Amino acid sequence: MAKYVVSRVKTGIPGFDDLIEGGFPQGTTILVTGPTGTGKTTFAVQFVYKGAELYDEPGVIVTLEERAQDLRREMLSFGWDLKKYEEQGKIAIIDGVSSVVGLPSEERFALEEGLNVEGFLRYVYRVVKSINAKRLVIDSIPSIAIRLKEEQNIREVLLRLNTILLEMGITSILTTESEDPKGGKISKYGVEEFVARGVILLDLVEKDVELKRYLLIRKMRETKHSMKKYPFEITENGIVVYPSGEIY
Ligand SMILES: Nc1ncnc2c1ncn2[C@@H]1O[C@H](COP(=O)(O)OP(=O)(O)OP(=O)(O)O)[C@@H](O)[C@H]1O
Ligand SMILES: [Mg+2]
Repeated sequence: MAKYVVSRVKTGIPGFDDLIEGGFPQGTTILVTGPTGTGKTTFAVQFVYKGAELYDEPGVIVTLEERAQDLRREMLSFGWDLKKYEEQGKIAIIDGVSSVVGLPSEERFALEEGLNVEGFLRYVYRVVKSINAKRLVIDSIPSIAIRLKEEQNIREVLLRLNTILLEMGITSILTTESEDPKGGKISKYGVEEFVARGVILLDLVEKDVELKRYLLIRKMRETKHSMKKYPFEITENGIVVYPSGEIY
């Protein structure tokens, strides 16, 4: 019997795709987790940005932690001009922050205040369809929970989200927090990893009185990968992973 070949979605993150047989399995949901400042937003936005720039794949970014305009400005420091691809209809940013803090949003895509889970999912779905997106980022899960005031139902929210993502057939990155991955808890609610078909952990390790960044592919279904910790850097061009580097 012929072996079923999984189609791969290249992340565009130098060094990373080599660790996972060429890319994420097409259509899957990947969780990027880690403590604050470890590069989760950068990783996620790089996936969408490079999708548009290198692979001609449209992508949607749902920003729930910072306003779209702040995200655009920060990402410019990596030379990523999100606006350019937004104008070409290859990237759409959904601003999930402005309305909550009571600021008027001049964004084309913004979440209204007081949205429930269905409203949120429907909106994302509509924007994804409108640009025919192949990639999606939701940054972050804890802020969905807070925004939708349904933190107690986060498991249900995630299951619904997952069903919709699978139905759309889109390759997605969800970010979440983990304060202390070494303590065994890899996500804020302890349920995010059950929904995701891949989990990538970003963290820091102390080396010669300096903190060094590393990542670990904790799980990736349909993919042969090692459980090694790989060093990476956040450079002026974004994240670069060193597949043959060592972490001690
Ligand atoms: N232009 C740049 N060049 C090099 N490093 C940068 C640059 N911009 C940001 N960084 C590094 O990236 C870090 C922030 O990364 P990022 O915002 O992706 O992390 P995060 O995990 O999403 O954090 P948070 O928990 O705050 O959301 C900064 O603390 C800084 O160390
Ligand atoms: Mg972030």
